[in-house]
Amino acid sequence: MTEAPADVAAATAAAPTAPSTNPAESYFAVRNIDAFYGDSYVVQNISFDINEGEILAMLGRNGAGKTSTLRAIARATEPELRSGEVWLQGQPLHDAKSHEAAMAGIQLVQEDRCIIQGLTVEENLDLATINGAPGWEYERIYSLFPRLKERRKQEGTTLSGGEQQMLAIGRALARDLKLLLLDEPYEGLAPVVRHDIEKALIEVRNAGITTIIVEQNAIAALKLADKAIILDTGEVAFQGTADEVLANEALRHEYLAI
Ligand SMILES: Nc1ncnc2c1ncn2[C@@H]1O[C@H](COP(=O)(O)OP(=O)(O)OP(=O)(O)O)[C@@H](O)[C@H]1O
Ligand SMILES: [Mg+2]
Repeated sequence: MTEAPADVAAATAAAPTAPSTNPAESYFAVRNIDAFYGDSYVVQNISFDINEGEILAMLGRNGAGKTSTLRAIARATEPELRSGEVWLQGQPLHDAKSHEAAMAGIQLVQEDRCIIQGLTVEENLDLATINGAPGWEYERIYSLFPRLKERRKQEGTTLSGGEQQMLAIGRALARDLKLLLLDEPYEGLAPVVRHDIEKALIEVRNAGITTIIVEQNAIAALKLADKAIILDTGEVAFQGTADEVLANEALRHEYLAI
């Protein structure tokens, strides 16, 4: 490995990678989480906090561990969380199963959007609300995404990519949502559609919902976000404000290639 340039090293050193606050008192906190696919150690000692209503951009190169970290937080079976802590509003979730994390309010919108085949838009929403406390009323979701209302009787898998992303976010909102995890929400979308999703995410934030966004389009994610965390080979390389990353060209160059 080559040495990081001095200004990158300084920015990294200046940013605390281990928050010192009590995780049980944070809105959402992870502490020293380690997750594995078999012997493969892919999430390495990651710690961070998010305040209520904040957006955190989680960035890094391909294979840096972003999806794996989201999955570990959502308490998916894979990768396996072997140590560390996950706390949401004082509730420990490190020993929870994925359905328990979802019941607690953590909703993961996966990269492939997971629209259920054979079900209409509205039936996809119905399925999301089958168990657990309900979230937003459908009318509120439809006012956020009017195109979903127009297409509510249409089979979900026949929607355009952008509309499927809207439905995937709508499904998370239909549940009791305390932490929204978005994996590459803009992937494959034309800029005009991306802007519609961005506007909706701002409204979601204005409604007080807390979000972690993973995006290859780092600039778009940073413009939306309050905070940023950069992962590199499974570890935290930087954490700070989104503005700090936008202002630090050397840091962006080193870890985001932008
Ligand atoms: N199911 C799996 N089994 C084994 N290893 C995996 C699995 N999924 C991912 N990995 C490995 O874990 C590491 C982190 O992958 P991850 O998908 O979390 O990265 P990422 O930052 O989301 O990358 P990308 O930007 O390409 O989506 C990579 O080395 C990847 O090869
Ligand atoms: Mg990924």
